[in-house]
Amino acid sequence: MDLSAAYSTPLHTIKHPITTKSSTTKFTINKIYSYSSPPPSVTTSTTSQPTSLPTRTIPGSYGLPLLGPLADRLDYAWFQGSETFFKKRVEKNKSTVFRTNVPPSFPFFLVNPNVIAVLDVKSFAHMFDMELVDKRNVLVGDWMPSTKFTGDRRVCAYLDPSEPQHEQIKNFAMDTLKRSSTNWIPTITSLLDTMWDNIEPQLSSGPVSYLIPIQKFIFAFSSLCIAGADPANSPDIAENGYIRMDRWLAVQLLPTIPINMLQPLVEILLHSFAYPFFLVSGDYDKLYEFIENEGKEVVSRGQTEFNLSKEDTIHNLLFILGFNAFGGFSIFFLSLLNVLGTDKTGIQEKLRKEVREKAVSGLNFRSIQEMDLVNSFVYETLRLNPPVPLQYGRARKDFELSSHDSVFKVKKGELLCGFQSLVMKDPKVFDDPETFVAERFMGEKGKELLGYLYWSNGPQSGTPSVSNKQCAGKDFVTFTASLFLAHLFLRYDSVTIDGTSFSAVEKPKP
Ligand code: HEM
Repeated sequence: MDLSAAYSTPLHTIKHPITTKSSTTKFTINKIYSYSSPPPSVTTSTTSQPTSLPTRTIPGSYGLPLLGPLADRLDYAWFQGSETFFKKRVEKNKSTVFRTNVPPSFPFFLVNPNVIAVLDVKSFAHMFDMELVDKRNVLVGDWMPSTKFTGDRRVCAYLDPSEPQHEQIKNFAMDTLKRSSTNWIPTITSLLDTMWDNIEPQLSSGPVSYLIPIQKFIFAFSSLCIAGADPANSPDIAENGYIRMDRWLAVQLLPTIPINMLQPLVEILLHSFAYPFFLVSGDYDKLYEFIENEGKEVVSRGQTEFNLSKEDTIHNLLFILGFNAFGGFSIFFLSLLNVLGTDKTGIQEKLRKEVREKAVSGLNFRSIQEMDLVNSFVYETLRLNPPVPLQYGRARKDFELSSHDSVFKVKKGELLCGFQSLVMKDPKVFDDPETFVAERFMGEKGKELLGYLYWSNGPQSGTPSVSNKQCAGKDFVTFTASLFLAHLFLRYDSVTIDGTSFSAVEKPKP
């Protein structure tokens, strides 16, 4: 589908509103988690930039009351699916900025589903400017799951940087990752060895589904690296921790999860009302107990060094570990394995060659940083499969928002909604945007493109800090994925993946 009519400015004339020096070229943990000295506030000069673009009324409409939101909801969740939903409206409005509704909505949600969609890199970037947008309670849109799911409190991801607790908790999150960084490589590689040691002998009897082993692996390394809590110390959590987390996530997010099957039942039964917390309170209590007992050191640091109450510390740790990390990685690893398994360009051979060349002295931060193709492959997977595709921000004041070709007037209180899956295919920035190009982020031009890789709610070249809402685990996420690939191609020459199963692994010849 050609979207170029809606994007009419060549790349070299796009002035990126956020200019931060690339932190990815010099990979040091201290630099990445420099929580104690946050970089200058990521505010942009978008509004003050002189522009010769024409001012245009924001196209699109919210339709008739109740019926407009309902029609859009059915298109989004059923008839079109999210990506086609946004693409069709870009074409219809001949604009990457327009008015529309997003679910959940009518009949049982007391929400305002009206949003202004921002679907090119330039308009989307306004959402990184904390002077322009308020991020209070808009993690998944105007609707917010009950705080019962998080111990009757608003956890970090729902806080705006102007709220004092945001700084406390985000510093705590970045600190806990920074402190565990010396253990990332031994922890993750040892868990991977255990996973492969279990899978390998089963392969002689046929394909082995990776869904459970990968989730167990994610749950274990996230618990260890974020909360210092080892699932192996609790038989129930070692066995069921990931399922308990899945259930807790699913029940709170059901109204917003697109499920493209069994319609109209899904719309009627799953997307029409919110499910109550008591359905998963038993799971949550067990997870709480696990962090309380096994994550004592980290919990105590939350209290003594970050002045959080014990309950605030544990509920926030659980959200970061469960929602942010486990939820995000569970989606991301499926994409990573899918891309690896469906590739027809011989990428495994190229990755293996690079890994073995660069890892002669073993796997460490430096050798992984030097794996340009591996890292680029990870970035390209995130470009085409952003695990958290929707982002929201509420206008803090009236302001002018620019797309590539027009300027629009946004009113205080209006909700902006960006859909990264389209934004990161902006043809004015990415050549051949629909195609997976493993080498895309290599070399000088590739490094520049990192400024437009937004999966973490900020550019990949940016730095998460207390003054922005960029993912606190941004560099841990990409590092872990690169480490996963490096470990894989040191252990095996290749892996055959069918759907969601491993069907064969080829070991290096002696
Ligand atoms: C693949 C895994 C992950 C993905 C896809 C992901 C994605 C994101 C995104 C998109 C946001 C911004 C949400 C918004 O405000 O619209 C976010 C925020 C956040 N993430 Fe991640 N994340 C991942 C893993 C992690 C990990 C491992 C941590 C561990 C520290 C983490 C900690 C956080 C925190 C604390 C926030 C809130 C930031 C703030 O309030 O300023 N995330 N994440």
